[in-house]
Amino acid sequence: MPRRSVIIDTDPSPDDAVAFLMALASPEELDVLAITTVAGNVPLPLTSKNARKALELAKRTATPVYAGAAAPLVRKLITAEYVHGRTGFDGYDLPEPAMPLAEGFAPEVIVELAMQRSPGEVTLCCLAPLTNIALALSKEPRLASHLREIVIMGGAFSEGGNITPAAEFNIFVDPEAAARVLGCGAPITMIPLDCTHQALTAPARLDKLRACGTPVTEAFYHLLKFNKIFDETKYGWVGGPLHDATVIAYLLAPGLFAGREVHVSVELGSAQTLGMTVVDWWSVLGKPPNVQFLRSVNADGYFDLVIERLARL
Ligand code: RIB
Ligand code: CA
Repeated sequence: MPRRSVIIDTDPSPDDAVAFLMALASPEELDVLAITTVAGNVPLPLTSKNARKALELAKRTATPVYAGAAAPLVRKLITAEYVHGRTGFDGYDLPEPAMPLAEGFAPEVIVELAMQRSPGEVTLCCLAPLTNIALALSKEPRLASHLREIVIMGGAFSEGGNITPAAEFNIFVDPEAAARVLGCGAPITMIPLDCTHQALTAPARLDKLRACGTPVTEAFYHLLKFNKIFDETKYGWVGGPLHDATVIAYLLAPGLFAGREVHVSVELGSAQTLGMTVVDWWSVLGKPPNVQFLRSVNADGYFDLVIERLARL
């Protein structure tokens, strides 16, 4: 598989950090050009701090972190401290980062890094509300056709929403940005709750992670242990969904996933279903597909990959 250049846009809580650390642990397959942060799980200063905390823990401070949007395109920011704790990284104390943020506004950096490379070279990995991506697409209309792929953790179909009955968090926080991205024409792969809710951080999986015995695996054992509490209480599951690492696992091992090309749109008009991803799974409307929508994952294979890659750091 040819090596991909990736930009990872993120609002770190632990599932995000597992994703970008997996990517950094896979230099044969992925060249991580930059990490860009956005407001989402917690406000921008904290997402930008958490990204750097994780990079310092893994001794990967050569990877630049660029801060982006502090709020959605047109709406008030909604955050998720009720899931991830006040810091977004509750559950394990990591030192304040020494590495500075890189100079530059994330949407502008996304455009610059992508457009200075050949067409079809750069993949955007989107682990958060899509504000930075929408701003980048608006800033450079040629960006969409220049990208290799946009891979998004977000949305939901038969699983329903996780922040409202209809909407998944990343889409709900900035639905206008999501609509902009889904309509941009770039090749898009979407990994929704239908998929990520099959991939739970069960105790045996967390114990296997901890048994690797490195500072990274020890820290993420505790971070993920805290992070699963809300979902275990809400859903009655054993373990919580490891959402965002599915994006990197898809790039590394696409055979772990299954889905189909469908048309997906975002509800913007209804207060009750705002941010719902309307997935035309049976092509009832006959609209041309705009998304590869992945609905299933081999969870054991996924966690084997996650653990194997994190253990490399
Ligand atoms: O709904 C799950 C998504 O929202 C994940 O990206 C998680 O990190 C949060 O951002
Ligand atoms: Ca996220």
